[in-house]
Amino acid sequence: MNIVVHGNYRRHGIGSSLLAAIFEMGGYLGCSGIRLIAKLTDEAAISFYTGMGFSNTGKKERYYSDGSDGIGMERSLEDERQWWIRRARI
Ligand SMILES: CC(C)(COP(=O)(O)OP(=O)(O)OC[C@H]1O[C@@H](n2cnc3c(N)ncnc32)[C@H](O)[C@@H]1OP(=O)(O)O)[C@@H](O)C(=O)NCCC(=O)NCCS
Repeated sequence: MNIVVHGNYRRHGIGSSLLAAIFEMGGYLGCSGIRLIAKLTDEAAISFYTGMGFSNTGKKERYYSDGSDGIGMERSLEDERQWWIRRARI
């Protein structure tokens, strides 16, 4: 899955809202977490994902077809998953 916000509409909270919806959906479906890879040089994406609770899981050497490196990131969805489990019991 790719998350892209049109250049004219960035820094207005749209990307965060999209990702928050993905967290909720993942928790509802019983996912325990999300893993992704971003370009190591993509400071915007890394800052965005870090701000949304992702942590760095390490460099992926020459991950991309142009030879550039990636960075692995992950975030637990356990809180969201547990929320849906509790809700189902009500
Ligand atoms: C990454 C992307 C989806 C963010 O979407 P967005 O709607 O601009 O994000 P938000 O407005 O919700 O930003 C939330 C926070 O992320 C961080 N952030 C977002 N863009 C940033 C940038 N260019 N530089 C530094 N930090 C950035 C900021 O902390 C921001 O909070 P702030 O605006 O209050 O400072 C958007 O920049 C994009 O489409 N980029 C091109 C595609 C891409 O790189 N996708 C990810 C591929 S792995």
